[in-house]
Amino acid sequence: MKADLQGKVALVTGAGSGIGRAIALALAENGANVAVNDIDRERAEETVRQMAELTGEGFAVIADITDYAEVRRMVDDVIRYFGQIDILVNNAGWDKLEPFLQNRPETWERIIAINFKGPIHVTRAVAEHMAERRTGKIINIASDAGRVGSTGEAVYSGCKGGLIAMSKTWAREFARYQIRVNVVSPGLTDTPLLEELKQTEFGGKILGAIEKSIPFGLARPEDVANAVLFFADDASNYITGQVLSVSGGLTFHD
Ligand SMILES: NC(=O)c1ccc[n+]([C@@H]2O[C@H](COP(=O)([O-])OP(=O)(O)OC[C@H]3O[C@@H](n4cnc5c(N)ncnc54)[C@H](O)[C@@H]3O)[C@@H](O)[C@H]2O)c1
Repeated sequence: MKADLQGKVALVTGAGSGIGRAIALALAENGANVAVNDIDRERAEETVRQMAELTGEGFAVIADITDYAEVRRMVDDVIRYFGQIDILVNNAGWDKLEPFLQNRPETWERIIAINFKGPIHVTRAVAEHMAERRTGKIINIASDAGRVGSTGEAVYSGCKGGLIAMSKTWAREFARYQIRVNVVSPGLTDTPLLEELKQTEFGGKILGAIEKSIPFGLARPEDVANAVLFFADDASNYITGQVLSVSGGLTFHD
C-alpha cells in the first residue's frame, strides 16, 4: 500500500513492538514524521533506529498511556518537537488469556487501564489539538475479540468492543472539526504479544485452534499497517466511524 503522507506528523502508541512498530515504519516510509510512543525506552528507540533510512523522521516519546498526566506531557512534547499532530494511532494494548472465572482484580484493572483508558487519555489530549486545527485522522487498533468475542479474553474483548463503540461516538462528535475516526480490527497477528499469550497451556490450546482455522493463516504486522495507511491517507477522507477487520477470512460479522 502506498500513501502520500509528506508533511504529516503521526503519533503511534505502543510503537516499540509488533503491530505498532510496523505501523510506525509504514507511516515513515510513506513520508510522515512519526512520534514513536512506548512505555519501554529501548523498544521505542529501536523503532526510531529502524526508521533511519526512511523518508520520515522518528522521535521516541516515552510515556505510560494509563497515566493521563504523562500522556498530556507526551502530547505537548510531540507538538513542541514536530509542530503538530495530524494522525493518531491508538495501538498500545495488552492481554492475558485465562477463563473469566480465574480472572483476578489486578488482571482486569491492568487490561482496562491499558486497552480502554489508554486510548481515552491519548484521544482526549490529541483531539483537542486536532479540533483547534480543524483537521486530523484518528485510527484505533481494536481486535476481532471486540466484535465477535473470544474465549479467555472476556475483559479484553469488552475493552475492544468499548473502543469500537467509543470510536463511532468520536467520529460523530469530531466530524464538525474535520477529524476522521476509524478502527482497524486485527485477527491473530504474529507479534511478541501473541507469542507471550501462547506460553500458557490454556493460551496455547485456544490460540493454536484459532490459528488452524484462519483461511489465510496468521496476519503479519505489515498486513495491519496497510489498513492503517489507507485510513491515514487522504484517499479515505470520506470515510469515518468505520471498522475494518484484518483477519484473513476468520470473521465476517458486523
Ligand atoms: N497480536 C495479535 O494477535 C493482536 C490481535 C488483535 C489485536 N491486537 C492489538 O494490536 C495492538 C498491538 O499489539 P501487538 O500484538 O503488536 O503487541 P506487542 O506486545 O507486541 O506490542 C505492544 C507494545 O505496547 C507497549 N505498551 C504496553 N503497555 C503500554 C503503556 N501502558 N503505555 C505505552 N506503551 C505500552 C509495549 O511495551 C509494546 O511495545 C494491541 O492493541 C493489541 O490489543 C493484537
